[in-house]
Amino acid sequence: FFFFFNDTATTEIYTLSLHRRSSDLGLHRLEYRGYDSAGVALVNPDGRLNVFKCKGKVSDLEHFLDGKDLGGNIGIAHTRWATHGVPNDANAHPHYSESENIALIHNGIIENYRVLKDALEQNGYTFRSSTDSEVLVNLIEYVRATSGCSLPEAVRQALRQVIGAYAIAVVEKGNHDRIVAARQSSPMVVGVGDGEFFLSSDAASIIEYTEDFVYVGDGEIAVIDRNAPLKIVTLDNHDAKIDIKKLQLSISQLEKGGYPHFMLKEIYEQPRTIVDCIRGRINPDTCEVKLSGVIDHRDRFVNARRIIFVACGTSWHASLIGEHLVESICGIPVEVEYASEFRYRNPIIREDDIVVAVSQSGETADTLAAVELARKAGAFVFGICNVVGSSIARATDSGAYIHVGPEIGVASTKAFTGQVTVMAMLALAVGRERGTVTEAYYNEVSAALLHLPETMEEVLKVAPQVADLAKIFTYAHNFIYLGRGYNYPTALEGALKLKEISYIHAEGYPAAEMKHGPIALIDAEMPTVAIATPDHTYEKTASNIEEIKARGGKIIAVIARGDEQVRRSADFVIEVPVIAECLMPIVVSVPLQLLAYYIAVYKGRNVDQPRNLAKSVTVE
Ligand code: F6R
Repeated sequence: FFFFFNDTATTEIYTLSLHRRSSDLGLHRLEYRGYDSAGVALVNPDGRLNVFKCKGKVSDLEHFLDGKDLGGNIGIAHTRWATHGVPNDANAHPHYSESENIALIHNGIIENYRVLKDALEQNGYTFRSSTDSEVLVNLIEYVRATSGCSLPEAVRQALRQVIGAYAIAVVEKGNHDRIVAARQSSPMVVGVGDGEFFLSSDAASIIEYTEDFVYVGDGEIAVIDRNAPLKIVTLDNHDAKIDIKKLQLSISQLEKGGYPHFMLKEIYEQPRTIVDCIRGRINPDTCEVKLSGVIDHRDRFVNARRIIFVACGTSWHASLIGEHLVESICGIPVEVEYASEFRYRNPIIREDDIVVAVSQSGETADTLAAVELARKAGAFVFGICNVVGSSIARATDSGAYIHVGPEIGVASTKAFTGQVTVMAMLALAVGRERGTVTEAYYNEVSAALLHLPETMEEVLKVAPQVADLAKIFTYAHNFIYLGRGYNYPTALEGALKLKEISYIHAEGYPAAEMKHGPIALIDAEMPTVAIATPDHTYEKTASNIEEIKARGGKIIAVIARGDEQVRRSADFVIEVPVIAECLMPIVVSVPLQLLAYYIAVYKGRNVDQPRNLAKSVTVE
């Protein structure tokens, strides 16, 4: 048996093998989900249950494990992103139960943990950590002790009392043959190997051991036992179907491939990821765009009264570009909603609405909840996801994967450009069906999409120049990013990239909004990144740049090659190739990604794992 389990107080599972140990890649591959503490529990062949855990990254756990008794042929492990309780040794997972007979790792949030904890305390239980997860392991122990049932049954009964989100894995003293796992809202897969099983929050972390996966469903409990076939039951104790799916992913996609950081690798991958994204979807001879998710539901799209994009973070920025694309090409009114707001504000959703859920990971809790809400209201839900087989991809009626490969750097880069690429294809496909796009414009944009990989190669050539610029601006404490039209969301995205990895405060604004307040911030210490590529507001943006300059602000302008007008007013320029206006965000975002990257590197930040963040936000 080899098990990998991972967590991000979430959970990441880990190895249990006689030959493989903590230095194995499984838990490292889950570190993108959380990295403030880590731990492992192993059940020895003689039945002892050992838990080792500490604050810090998986590499700190590896040092901590040196010289420890790591015997055991089953185990669970976890890397945490704190929700309840600060990152420290006590709050790290796995958590022992009171008697130390059971150990558990948990990804998610137990919302009613307070009530459960009070009840357990009244029954004499004490707690070593501030986590909600420790409450769950004690609840399982309490159920087992009071009813005398088996561990899987105790897990089932305990979970029936739980409100919240979880992916858990549980082992117990004296049983080195069995792991019990369960999920509700947080992701979990069982990898089925040859005489071995793996358990993880993310199939990619165990792909080197197997391509065969069972996606554990919501409200299901998996019992992995050396002496019995894999069994999955529901919380109501009915047998669930075991459906093994193949996942093809190459290991090289999960490695840095010679780059110092995943983020830089992913920025440089963009010419290729765009090829993968448009492959088979645009006919190079006729420029015709075909998305099966649209073809299969043509009437829904043709008759849609409204499209609502729901997303978070970078995916929300991409959605703002989607709004512009769909409104102008398809003539359908669009709204863009933060998924976290949408789900709680009782939105008006009608049956002829289409809700487009945009998510790189396909696991973002708020976006998933928005999808569920939209489906309940009878809307048609279309997913734009990257991770194949992810929860959002499975919960939607139809969709289009962006196919950019695993994105491991916490800051999203290639997923953003992939999302906008898919949205452009979606708008063209729907616009043609609705007859709202002219032949000439359709052909112009689809031809530009076909040439996008070369354009991305071209724009990447600015990297050395952007690296030099970054050196000059590493001192700054604040930045403003300006853009208009299609590039207003690009400005928001540029600012987000900078703040999340360099910790420099940055704001994005529509350029014309400056005069309504933010211009008061401008002085020599506050650089402005202004996107001034050719479009119908170019002249106005050029004037905004002059206004900033007149107030002593330093300007870095992203301009079209050969543009002399803005070059004269800007302090520094980054020249980019020009393609169809609606695709410019894809091109312009590249130097902004690089600027954020190099500034963060010069500031000595952990680019791939910035503080306080996690790649996949599976909690609310
Ligand atoms: C920023 C970033 C986040 C994500 C957001 C949504 O670089 O990565 O803002 O975009 O957490 O994640 P997904 O797209 O996985 O739903």
